[in-house]
Amino acid sequence: MGEIKTIGVLTSGGDAPGMNPAIRAVVRSAIYYGMNVKGVRHGYNGLINDDIVDLNLRSVSEIIHRGGTMLYTARSKEFMTEEGQQKAYETCVKHGIDALVVIGGDGSFRGCQAISKKGIKTIGIPGTIDNDIACSDYTIGYDTALNTAMEMIDKLRDTTQSHERCSVVEVMGRHAGYLAINTGIATGALCTLIPEKEFDIERDIIGRIQETQKQGKKNFIILVAEGVGKVFDIANYIEMRTGIETRATVLGHVQRGGSPSMRDRVTAAEMAVEAVELLNNGVYNRVIGMHDNKVVNYDIDEALQMKKELDPHLVSIANIISI
Ligand code: F6P
Repeated sequence: MGEIKTIGVLTSGGDAPGMNPAIRAVVRSAIYYGMNVKGVRHGYNGLINDDIVDLNLRSVSEIIHRGGTMLYTARSKEFMTEEGQQKAYETCVKHGIDALVVIGGDGSFRGCQAISKKGIKTIGIPGTIDNDIACSDYTIGYDTALNTAMEMIDKLRDTTQSHERCSVVEVMGRHAGYLAINTGIATGALCTLIPEKEFDIERDIIGRIQETQKQGKKNFIILVAEGVGKVFDIANYIEMRTGIETRATVLGHVQRGGSPSMRDRVTAAEMAVEAVELLNNGVYNRVIGMHDNKVVNYDIDEALQMKKELDPHLVSIANIISI
């Protein structure tokens, strides 16, 4: 089509393993289709502060297996203002950036919406460990983070079992319980608390511990999503009510790091190439998604209005087998 000569690529919001392979695939596919690529560093702040680098085939060598993002990332407060958006637009014009590929979450796509209103074409690619993008079954980084959390909780299980204790573990997810519920199933947590579902500490934790204790269970893992929080208070309460020695562990930002898994690398490649091909075909202001293992795309306004429910079946599975 030839309409777009230069693409800018940026990562925004919390980093996620797989962002680097996504950047790499954007750069290489854009060059394949005859476009130039500029890297925007530090998320939307890079557009405001004119922090732009030229990218070529070799600039993205040796990043396919690395976590984090070679372009750095940020949650830009300034970009939320009209003044910030105007500065960003002017930087795009200065560098001849016709279109932006933005790898991030919902907040990042709202940024796409804003700058697209000024005439910069955009495509959003879902990259977040939270898997909370409504228009996509899957987000880049989720699989790696799940496996990281699972491996750490497996380690915690060894010591919890040895001391016949209870461990209360916090996993990431301020607003979304996907990471927590799946990790809970994968690690055999007795109970998983998620932001989407109210809980009753007596019924859902103390009652369950006491019931399973009667059946001979001697160690307990209670998983708590970050959005529910208060793991230290919960641990103290459990110890006080049951007499079982209880420890609290916050897994924290380690969940966002590490070499991206096979699934995250391949998904990153699929989504990134789709993003560039859409632009090459004159299609823009879309968000990429994954539905039934196929790459799809939605109008950005539509994508941002969609809602995603946590699968109630998963919650039920966790309840049935975590006993
Ligand atoms: O990127 C998503 C996420 O890791 C959430 O799970 C978490 O609530 C949040 O980011 C933490 O953000 P920050 O890096 O600002 O502490």
